[in-house]
Amino acid sequence: MTAHERITIDVGAQQGVEVAPDLWGLFIEDLNDALDGGLNAECLRNGDFEFNAADRDGWDALTAWSADVADRVEVRTDAPIHPNNAHYLRLTGPVTLVNEGWDGTGTSDGQGFLLSFFARAGAEPARLTVTIGSNGGSLARAQVMVPAGGWHRCETTLTAVADGRGRLHIEIPAGLVVDLDHVSLRPTGPGGEPLTFRPDLLQALKDLSPSFIRFPGGCVAHGLGLDNIYHWKTTIGPRHERAQIPNSWGYHQSRQIGYLEYFELCQATGATPLPVVAAGVCCQNYPGGAQAIADDAMDAYIQDVLDLIEFANGSADTLWGARRAALGHPEPFRLRYLGLGNEDEITDDFRDRYARIEDAVRGRHPEICVIGTVGPQPFGPDFEAGWAFARARGTAMVDEHGYRNPRWFHQNVDRYRTYEPGPQVYLGEYAARSNTLRSALAEAAYMIGLERNPGVVRLASYAPLLARVGHAQWTPDLIYFTATEVLPSASYHVQGMFSRERGTRLHPVTLGGVEPEPVTLPETGSVRLMSQGASVDYADIVLDGLVRHPVTTDPGGEPVELGGIDPAAATLELTATRRAGDEGFVVELGGDSYLQVHVGAWQNRSTLVIRGDDGITNDDHGPLHWHGVRTGIPVRVRVRLDGARVRVWIDGELRHDYEQDLRPEHRVVAGAASRTAADGTTEYVIRVVNAHPTARVATIRLAEPLEQTVATVTTLAGANPDEGQPFTASPVAPVVITTGGDTVDLPPWSFVTAVVRSIP
Ligand code: AHR
Repeated sequence: MTAHERITIDVGAQQGVEVAPDLWGLFIEDLNDALDGGLNAECLRNGDFEFNAADRDGWDALTAWSADVADRVEVRTDAPIHPNNAHYLRLTGPVTLVNEGWDGTGTSDGQGFLLSFFARAGAEPARLTVTIGSNGGSLARAQVMVPAGGWHRCETTLTAVADGRGRLHIEIPAGLVVDLDHVSLRPTGPGGEPLTFRPDLLQALKDLSPSFIRFPGGCVAHGLGLDNIYHWKTTIGPRHERAQIPNSWGYHQSRQIGYLEYFELCQATGATPLPVVAAGVCCQNYPGGAQAIADDAMDAYIQDVLDLIEFANGSADTLWGARRAALGHPEPFRLRYLGLGNEDEITDDFRDRYARIEDAVRGRHPEICVIGTVGPQPFGPDFEAGWAFARARGTAMVDEHGYRNPRWFHQNVDRYRTYEPGPQVYLGEYAARSNTLRSALAEAAYMIGLERNPGVVRLASYAPLLARVGHAQWTPDLIYFTATEVLPSASYHVQGMFSRERGTRLHPVTLGGVEPEPVTLPETGSVRLMSQGASVDYADIVLDGLVRHPVTTDPGGEPVELGGIDPAAATLELTATRRAGDEGFVVELGGDSYLQVHVGAWQNRSTLVIRGDDGITNDDHGPLHWHGVRTGIPVRVRVRLDGARVRVWIDGELRHDYEQDLRPEHRVVAGAASRTAADGTTEYVIRVVNAHPTARVATIRLAEPLEQTVATVTTLAGANPDEGQPFTASPVAPVVITTGGDTVDLPPWSFVTAVVRSIP
């Protein structure tokens, strides 16, 4: 290969095919403290004293709070401010109460904060001193009067006198007894109004120009257990009256960003709402499994769904439209999409509940596009069953999910070209499983594939969107943040490059000088054993007919190497006996690309074959439900690699039997669309991914040439595709230049968007 290969991009004449207008959107779920502790501008944590052990072991009403004299603080529940906010504190002065916030509260000189709370003093009014303090110093201070008798809502404004990070202190003077609840500290906007959304994160979302926003998930939408389903009506109205429930990601949901704030966020970002409601069943990944809402409760649940549509779209003289108007929004929110279910197991209960809800929405709101669900993976039993169900029902659109490694995305750039007519696709969650440039480029290549199949793919949203550093349950994410910083990933830049520059008319593209990258089995490799959650003895080991010595693996220990293999023809047999621990073990086979046979995956409840390429893994086959490894009980494992075919027997049962995916990767991919500019001229938006170490120069040839062109070229590129990691800002960012001529430079490992127009 030469240092700069030349390629051609022939952009054909447009054929009357429109780019999907809402294609690029956002997925918001309260996961990784994305909302509470993130987009929610609230600075205090557990301001309602409603944290509890159902949220997380060890949490209670005082989590995130401390006091200088602990026994002057009492948690009480008698005569609370609202039944949904049952816990409050009784403080007997002198005592100072401190909230740790989320890693403290960031202040900047002159920044205003609105502090508010409900308080109940005795017969005399009480004067409380409130401070945002740091190391004994005060960043902002004020006093608040609590009127005598009964609960009163009190507030004051604090103005920061310095940049810093501090914690809220509330001082109760000696001799006073004060009850306190729903304590809130929010930065204020230009008019002194308390902010709903953290401004820098809101701006990061606005900068993505999203067409739609999905909410509230993900798993949070259908919840862990029937009591945990997200019911929208319990999330509107005064914040202190909202139902707070455990978050399925192991923390607390205050619902301070509830459905009204969600619709407001859509307005603020110019996005159309895409709420997802449970399809009458809760998440199957829960000890009780996927339970269905009781038959006799379904009518009420369906009415709730219809009411949500009325709340969003109804005129102010409808019941729920009036409620919206009373909450300050007489104008409708123009809801057009409704997600029904999330990654649900396609059971008979699911089919029944889904059908009843979809029928009701179709009947009452034929204008709403209902989006069904087709499982957690872009293939497999729920995917197949979900698609068959959606086709049979004539569902308008289905929600596909795809968390796969970069190779998979490059192999599947043309996935949607061969879809049969039927329901359209919302790719509701996807990510190439790392925060490297390699993953971002794989996503970009795939997104070109999405864009050029508008007959099938109408909507797409990367997931998850937000993660607070130090508080994350899931990586990779699109945007990381701390108390004071926003840290965009390389994938964030890719999303912005697609969303900010969009064409409206699709053009066919022919690439010249580019071949797909073959995928082959590695020529050499070895076998390794490991066990992170158990100590395991392996005996009777036979590798390609040769008997090996017994070995042991332990948690935290290095993998134990058994010997070299030909990854295209190998046989391993062994007997594994767990000595201690709760988990199973892993057999790894291969070289740079490798397979991992997990015997006891997912909390020792399944077997699974994983494939790793370029250091990033995919589930290749499974997980398949299994009884798990048991201490002292031997497990006989046999693995046979035979060309691309993989077979795994456990205790004589053939559990995994499949072919590895050796389709070539599309590492150089291009797409084109045109649009009419404000002055009536035509502009072309041309996107090219060069996920390859070779630099290229692309000559762009337009079938409908423009006079004397100039191009605004945005390039995301980096010398090392494996740079970039969770919880840091991407080491690469887009660079914009203006250039003439008909060629575009494609640096190694790059994504380029060129907007080509005639010189005015
Ligand atoms: O995006 C994180 C999670 O991934 C979502 O909550 C769920 O739908 C999927 O499994």
